Amino acid sequence: MEVASDVILALRNITVHLGYSKRRVLSDISFDVYQGERVYVLGPTGAGKTTLLYTIYGVWKPTSGSVHFDSMEITPRKRPPLEKWRRDIGFAFQDYKLLMDRTVIENVTIPLVLRGFAREDVLSFAYKALEVVGMKDRDKDFPSMLSGGEQQLVSLARAISFRPKLLLADEPTAGLDNITSERVLKALEHIRDEYNITMLIATHNVDIAARRATRIIRIEGGKLRVDAYGKGKIPQD
Ligand SMILES: Nc1ncnc2c1ncn2[C@@H]1O[C@H](COP(=O)(O)OP(=O)(O)OP(=O)(O)O)[C@@H](O)[C@H]1O
Ligand SMILES: [Mg+2]
Repeated sequence: MEVASDVILALRNITVHLGYSKRRVLSDISFDVYQGERVYVLGPTGAGKTTLLYTIYGVWKPTSGSVHFDSMEITPRKRPPLEKWRRDIGFAFQDYKLLMDRTVIENVTIPLVLRGFAREDVLSFAYKALEVVGMKDRDKDFPSMLSGGEQQLVSLARAISFRPKLLLADEPTAGLDNITSERVLKALEHIRDEYNITMLIATHNVDIAARRATRIIRIEGGKLRVDAYGKGKIPQD
């Protein structure tokens, strides 16, 4: 399958059925994501945003269609080993999924260790990621000592510590007040400035997307309804 060289991620006719009843959750979704884009995936609760991100991350296999990333692809019949597939993809989960019995710095070093980074890079990359999101001084705390917003920031640091090519963030501001949401959105901007990572961010908050996105994809009932560019294909501000 042909994928243009500046396309980092391509979804082609993705349909996903889930659960015992094999309900159709995503229907025939296609789009290409270009290097450096900040794509906001909008849609109401139950639209299929998390399912879309999970399909890109390789949690769900599509029933039909294919996902292409970094010259690898996932199809209904095959999937590369997940550690290979996810080597350059960071995921910040809707519910954080931090390891509660590990400190902040341990949480952020784990992806680096799992990916076999050199010993001398592990701590420096992890501290750099914590610095970028403004949580460096909380390195020795356990997640239970942090607010929800602070856990979200650590979750973002963990998702980017290994400098992935693609960041998937699922509702990074869900459940946070305005001030804390702003802090998370600022952290995402710092991440972009520091690492130039392509981002796919799911949210149901239209205002946030309208202000930050270079491109907006809207899904409803598992179908792609809108795919529109904001300020231009590549971030310019
Ligand atoms: N593992 C699963 N098995 C069966 N159905 C599922 C599964 N995961 C999600 N669904 C269904 O798929 C639909 C889309 O769910 P999804 O979590 O992707 O929505 P969402 O857009 O992320 O919603 P929210 O804004 O509430 O996070 C929902 O109707 C949900 O019940
Ligand atoms: Mg969701």
